[in-house]
This record gives sequence, structure tokens and C-alpha cells, in this order.
Amino acid sequence: MAETVLDVKKLANFINGEWLHVNESAPVINPATGERVIEVPLSTKANVDEAVEAAEKAQKEWALVPAPQRAEVLFQVGNIMKERKERLGKLLTMENGKVLEEALGEVQEGIDMAFYMAGEGRRLFGQTTPAELKDKFAMSVRAPIGVVGIITPWNFPIAIATWKSFPAIVAGNAVVWKPATETPIMAYEMAKIFEEAGLPKGVLNVVFGSGSAVGDAMVHHDGIRVISFTGSNDIGRNIASDCGRQLKKVSLEMGGKNAVIVMDDADLNLAVEGIIWSAFGTSGQRCTACSRVIVHEDVKEELEKRLLTEMKKLTIGNGLDKSIKVGPIINKSGMEKIKKYIEIGRSEGAKLLAGGYELKDGEHGNGYYFAPTLFTDATSSMRIAQEEIFGPVVSLIPVKNFEEAIDVNNSVTYGLSSSIFTADVNRVFQAQRDLDTGIVYVNAGTTGAEIHLPFGGTKGTGNGHRDSGVQALDVFTEWKAVYVDFSGKLQRAQIDVE
Ligand code: UN1
Repeated sequence: MAETVLDVKKLANFINGEWLHVNESAPVINPATGERVIEVPLSTKANVDEAVEAAEKAQKEWALVPAPQRAEVLFQVGNIMKERKERLGKLLTMENGKVLEEALGEVQEGIDMAFYMAGEGRRLFGQTTPAELKDKFAMSVRAPIGVVGIITPWNFPIAIATWKSFPAIVAGNAVVWKPATETPIMAYEMAKIFEEAGLPKGVLNVVFGSGSAVGDAMVHHDGIRVISFTGSNDIGRNIASDCGRQLKKVSLEMGGKNAVIVMDDADLNLAVEGIIWSAFGTSGQRCTACSRVIVHEDVKEELEKRLLTEMKKLTIGNGLDKSIKVGPIINKSGMEKIKKYIEIGRSEGAKLLAGGYELKDGEHGNGYYFAPTLFTDATSSMRIAQEEIFGPVVSLIPVKNFEEAIDVNNSVTYGLSSSIFTADVNRVFQAQRDLDTGIVYVNAGTTGAEIHLPFGGTKGTGNGHRDSGVQALDVFTEWKAVYVDFSGKLQRAQIDVE
């Protein structure tokens, strides 16, 4: 694995095109092995100030570069990512733990985003529209906002960063990026790729460190005009209120409590495959992970039986080993949270059918592994059916009919993703209308979003913005309405109309 060796022992911030070390650092631990992978800088407010200063200066020039030329850098970034896909995937598995096949899929998501957003360099469409007066021209154009702050999570350290930074950059903004301290290597690799692709100095700046130091300084910095955040609900709400007081634009994605609905006419084998993939892939550590199965009572027993059979086949271990299907939990606090919910589920009276424990035998003892877990006979009001667990834990909720299934799906405070397995075309269309989430799947699990569609959710999942898709541009641009009067005389709108 020579190609996955890191060329440094300690990471440095990337500010104004320079690699700058800071005094404090913390170890990055491979969750599969417990081994130290590298040191991540713990930066301060002063480092954020430096980054914003560099970004402000660079942005003024970057905004004047024609968008198709800005896009050339993204095409180049996409090409380099493609060449390095294997290396990036392996490094991602080493810092995050997700199995290599999924890590490669995540890198591919970033590559897709690079080429998609590079294409936007030749679109960035506004509208031309008639003016109400003679000899007057009217249009709206997208204008960059300035310096944007992006705060990204450890569970998709490369894909989510591309969803945010690529649209920001192609639209003519400069970026200050705080990656999660658990997964800084993807940010280091991406900064190097941008450098090689020829992005002018200061357009992308990476400041490593904690949310309480770096994230907070970004949120409160006057020079940062937008914050785009993916992470926990508590932190997102605090960011929103801090940004609200400053009239700073903020885009939030804060998780889900996603359900798969299995109707009585569903292809049960397909439903089982969809549930296993969405519930236990990435060890359930996706915002989109399936953590509830809403099942028609007539097929409940059969579904449980088939799920248990398939769950027994899941191999758990280090994701660099190709035979492994489920990798580790990110860290000790992730593990503690999952264990706490197992206790909550038991005390609420849900029936534990499989899993529910940490694996400690042999090599499992070095990392953080949790057995894929299935509760059944849960009710919609239980905390295990309402709160995000972020682990390989799924709860079955039996229902009597389609209407009840929709109600149960919509009964949570989150609204990210949902899915229905059915063969009835009428139910398919009713479901896509009535499920109140930002993403709806039919005859597929709750995961698998593609980058050219908007990603995000309703209710407690966010605040109405979307990552990825053309909609991501709305976060990083202002609409400017432009009127050109070529009549040579004063024409008063609404008054001098004939
Ligand atoms: C996330 O968990 O925050 O649809 C992102 C999916 C992936 C992205 C997940 N393409 O599950």
C-alpha cells in the first residue's frame, strides 16, 4: 500500500497557498485499529482571522475571472481526484473506518460533483425578463457573496466538502473550510489537489481544529458572509441563532430519522437488501441511514425472519479487508451514544431480536465495533423511533395500513429521507406526494443520493437550503436584478407606463 503513505507526520493549515503549522495538535485515530494515523492541528481564532484575510483579498480577483475559466480548475480537480481515487479511498477508510468499497463510492461522489459543478461554469443561469417600460432591459444574475465558511462532518469527509466548496468556488467566492478533527486527511488531500490544479492562492483555505475554537470563530467573523454546516442538531441550531443575529446566511443539514416502509405487496427480498444496505452500510453513520422500518403487519414476521438471516451474513471488521461488510464506529463517544440507545430501547419495551452489544473479541478489541442491531415491536413514540442514533441500529414499527405508515413516517422531527417498497403504482405516487422528507425513494433504501439532485431535508433536518444539485448555487450566490434603460430619458417605473 505504498501509495497510501502520507508524506507528512503532522498536518498544517492551508492559508493563502502556504502550509502553516500551529503549536497545538491532537492525534487522529484509525477507528478500525486504534492506531494513531497522524496529528491534526488545533488552530485558534487568530488562524481563522489569517484565513479570512487571505480569502477576502483573493476573492476580489477570483470573482473577476470568467466563470468558464474558474470551472477549468474544477475540471482539473476532478481529473486529479480520478487519478488518485484508490489512494483517497484507502486514506478515507483509514481515518473514517467505512469499508473500502463505500470509501471509493464516496470519492466517486466527489469526482461527480467536480465535473457537474465545472459544467456550471458555462451555465450559472440567471433570467432575462421583459421590462414594463419601452426601451428598457431587465435581467437577474447570480453574484458571488464573498468569503464563505464551510464546516464539514467526519461521516462523509470528502463528498460533503465537495458539495459545498465546489459550487462556492465556481460561483466566484473564496472558502474558509473547517473539516472535522476526526477526518482531516481528506481535507489535506483536497487542498493539495486544488493547489496542483492551479487554484489561485487564498481562494481555498483550510483551518483545522475544534468547533468551539475554529467553528465558533468562523461563525462570528464579520468577513464570512455565509456558513454552510453539516453536523449535529444541537450545534446547527446554535450556529443558526448566532448567524441570525448577524444576518449571516446559513445553510444547515442536521441529520435524519429515516424510514423504509414495507407494504404487504412488497418484494420482500428486495426490501431486505435495501434495509440491510441503508441501515448497516457505513455502520449506520449516515444522515440518510435507515433507522426505522415501518412494516405492514401482514408481512412483519416474514420480514423479521429474512432480515435476521441476512444480518447473520454481515462480516464486521477493518474496512480495508475486502471481505468485510460493516466497519467500525467512529470513536468512543459514538459508541457510548449507541449503547445508551440500546438501554433506552430495552427500557421502553421494544424487543431486541439481534445485536445490541459492542464486539470486543480478538482484533475487534482494538477498534470500536458494534453488532448490527434489530429491535422489533417498537412504537412510533419511543425514543429509539424518534431520535437519531447514528449507528447500526434499526427499529421495526408494525402498522395496519398505508395511511398509518405515512403518518408514522411523518411523525418525527426530522425530514431527510424516506422510502417505500410496494408494487402498487398508485401507492407509489401517493407516497412520493405525502412523505414529508426532502428525499423519497421507491423500491430502494433511504441512502444513495446522486449529486445532481438537491440534498437536504425538511423540518428539523435543516433550514430550507440544499447541498449539491443546482440548488447548492442558491446558498453561495446573491440574486442581483439589473435594469438597463436605453430610452435616453427618465422613465419612472409603475408611473410612466402607457
Ligand atoms: C450523509 O450521510 O450526510 O445518499 C451524506 C447518501 C450519500 C450521502 C450521505 N450519497 O447516503
